[in-house]
Amino acid sequence: MYKVLFKQDLVPNIHLVKVSAPYVAKKARPGQFVIIAIDERGERVPLTIADWDREGGSITMVFMEVGTTTQRLASLNVGDSIAHLVGPLGIPTHIDRFGTVVCVGGCYGIAAMMPIARAMKEQGNRVISIIEARSRYLLFWEEELGRVSDQLMVTTGDGSYAAQGWIPDQIKRIIDGGEKIDLLVALGCTYMMKLCSEASRPFGIKTIVHLNSIMVDGTGMCGSCRVSVGGETKFACVDGPEFDGHQVDWDLLLSRQRGYQDEEIHSLREWESQGWRRT
Ligand code: FES
Repeated sequence: MYKVLFKQDLVPNIHLVKVSAPYVAKKARPGQFVIIAIDERGERVPLTIADWDREGGSITMVFMEVGTTTQRLASLNVGDSIAHLVGPLGIPTHIDRFGTVVCVGGCYGIAAMMPIARAMKEQGNRVISIIEARSRYLLFWEEELGRVSDQLMVTTGDGSYAAQGWIPDQIKRIIDGGEKIDLLVALGCTYMMKLCSEASRPFGIKTIVHLNSIMVDGTGMCGSCRVSVGGETKFACVDGPEFDGHQVDWDLLLSRQRGYQDEEIHSLREWESQGWRRT
């Protein structure tokens, strides 16, 4: 069992949990993820590792409530436990001295980008981080990400804070300002990563995206996480989760992510009919 050591509601619908997982903390690297199951009956879902404490033996995950499992995860309290947690999984982010690296994050991806931006900065890159939210009240970790970046750009869809617009607008601003981008790393919702890849493509900027396809086993056996990259079938859990954003078949990914929407609704109703309520 993996005990919850700390819990925080960052903004509406996005939560942080820190759990005791000493063996995972010992090996975790930027860009990797874990697969959790809340209890013996729970589905298995992947969550990106947002931070780890090797000495303290804990890992931190930031997630958005999107279905039964994440709602139940959000309802856990300090002292509760997660039944299963396996990881670290996936190929870690390739950290090297690239030059100017733009790290972009939206939703839960703001936190998940932290270890990548920090490692890129430690490697001597100039790190420009860009974060976005629909509105100011949905932004978090601005200061934290700012500390590991040379420059932080913030954008809100409704213009309630900082620049008005979305991450691709800010990428365009950097390019228009004459700064050469050597690498772009994007993490967050699929549509945002798709648009970032489209924004960078005409300029030939190497773009790495962190795919969040549906996963079950996380070890390359079930095929549920399959994606098409450069015309080849890849498994996001073992071949990724990072891929060249210019090669990803985004339409296929988006349609596969919607594949279990009816079951998600049914699952929530089922849990509620059994008396489960968010605490
Ligand atoms: Fe099963 Fe990737 S999650 S093959």
